[in-house]
Amino acid sequence: MRILLLTHAFNSLTQRLGAALQGCGHEISIEFDIADSVAEEAVALFRPDLIVAPYLRRAIPASIWRRHVCLVVHPGIVGDRGPSALDWALLEGAAEWGVTVLQAEAEMDAGPVWATAKFSLRAAKKSSIYRNEVTQAAVTAVLQAVERYAAHELPTPLADWPGARGRLRPLMTQTERAIDWQQDDSATVLRKIDAADGFPGVADSLFGIPCQIFDAWPEARLHGGPDAAPGDVVARRETALLRRTRDGAIWIGHARREGDFKLPATLAFAAEAAQLPDAPLAGWARADHATWQDIAWEESGSDENAVGFLHFEFYNGAMSTAQCRRLREALAWAKARPVRVIVLQGGADFWSNGIHLNVIEAASLNDGSPADESWHNINAMNDLALELIDSGKQITIAALGGNAGAGGCFLARAADLVWARDGVMLNPHYKNMGNLYGSEYWTYLLPRRVGDQGARDIMRNRQPLTAQAAVGTGFSDACLAGDAAAFRTDVARRAMEIASAPDLNERLAAKRERRARDEAEKPLAAYRAEELAQMRRNFYGFDPSYHVARHHFVRKSLASWTPRHLARHRDLGWTVPE
Ligand code: COA
Repeated sequence: MRILLLTHAFNSLTQRLGAALQGCGHEISIEFDIADSVAEEAVALFRPDLIVAPYLRRAIPASIWRRHVCLVVHPGIVGDRGPSALDWALLEGAAEWGVTVLQAEAEMDAGPVWATAKFSLRAAKKSSIYRNEVTQAAVTAVLQAVERYAAHELPTPLADWPGARGRLRPLMTQTERAIDWQQDDSATVLRKIDAADGFPGVADSLFGIPCQIFDAWPEARLHGGPDAAPGDVVARRETALLRRTRDGAIWIGHARREGDFKLPATLAFAAEAAQLPDAPLAGWARADHATWQDIAWEESGSDENAVGFLHFEFYNGAMSTAQCRRLREALAWAKARPVRVIVLQGGADFWSNGIHLNVIEAASLNDGSPADESWHNINAMNDLALELIDSGKQITIAALGGNAGAGGCFLARAADLVWARDGVMLNPHYKNMGNLYGSEYWTYLLPRRVGDQGARDIMRNRQPLTAQAAVGTGFSDACLAGDAAAFRTDVARRAMEIASAPDLNERLAAKRERRARDEAEKPLAAYRAEELAQMRRNFYGFDPSYHVARHHFVRKSLASWTPRHLARHRDLGWTVPE
């Protein structure tokens, strides 16, 4: 079938659905929901058999749903209606939740049901539930709905659905989200912030200044001393702030001041944070109590076959200059440990999305230079990638349990092996960010995996790759279990096998030889210099595309057109029928 994906953005859920439908043999095209007239034109051009709406912020126009079957993905159980589905489920602590695929009709979310899929609801950030459980359930339910549609089945009216428990819920307001620092215990504060992550955040204030807060973490030990009162900000650690609650304290990782964009909390309130006592952790080893720790090291196995796991839980996978430098330091330290395999685990939801566009943009708020900050950040990323490439004493593995994009993908490729969890999406290209050329040694790392033409195609086509497709193209080495816990177990087992293999020493020797051969042929410094010459043009040249794209990305400007490589129906030669 020809299936048009009508969506607010090409987010990872939409990417995953597109790939799954393509995998079933359907022809896919994408249009952003910009205006009724644009959607109508897309429908007229593509003449779809079916329209699927994975992520919409407004209703589909009647001119479309009256004439075409439109399947809407709703992140709620059957009968649930309204724009804050997940928020209510998380705030109220529902044990089970789901995704329902409904047919669009006049009343929002009230059309007949084509399919539904359920999941147990973790106590976690809304954004994490959306990228994991919701995305998985949406794929299951949409594929089922499309199959039923293709088989000429009919949907079930909502009123006839057996045991539908959901109901119409209003938009959750900031009044319902509000934290009462005097009354709420830490668990309640965490739940409220989780239910609003990564949008819209909880409206609150820090240092007396109104802001939205995001990205909360529990703290088991630090409370800020006997004088601290609930609501007081009592300490800082790297990018996070520690805030006293009625019965303990929590970390706040990110904040957005009014009129600004989301930033690491210590950057959003730089002057105030600088006055706070620092509460560093000793070393890189995983703390033995609940706390906020963005870089954590764990080891397993005995002296002969030890494996080390380096976790880096950077919010949204964005890596600032300072974060890259600290991670490089941690990696250099890890390389000196008596371990034979190093697994780079990234974070739970993202492995890495490359340089930190929000922190770069923030340079302009402080009379700094985003171009300079971009330059520092890409150099820090490159230093980190180099530390990884240059690791002759260990086999290194990038274990992608979460998505990776742009420079994050090439940082992963700097490891000897790339293993991705089934369900992860990779976007190993840069051009979407204002035609950025990219660095991270991609010109060395990519062609040797996929060939020169393959590398050119990946960069030019700018298509997301599923974990499976990434293996098919040669970009990555294995697609492992889709369940997050099973993935971690699988990674640990395979890493241990490598560490225990009798031929490990030969394998390491071959790795060193290959690196030496490559270096003799063309030094890494030359690849870096060539890439950075292009990046210098992106950052400092006459064409401001990268700065414009970053400005809009960070401020979440509404798209004004669908990129041509996604809107296939807008390819030359397609015409609107008379
Ligand atoms: N810097 C700062 N923030 C970033 C980021 C980056 N490099 N990459 C993603 N984010 C943020 C998004 O702004 C969003 O913020 P939110 O918390 O306000 O929602 C969040 O991460 C999730 O991004 P989203 O686009 O919703 O995630 P996705 O998994 O659906 O899509 C990508 C993944 C990779 C397609 C998309 O995030 C992207 O294009 N990122 C930019 C990559 C890039 O160009 N990096 C710079 C060049 S190296």
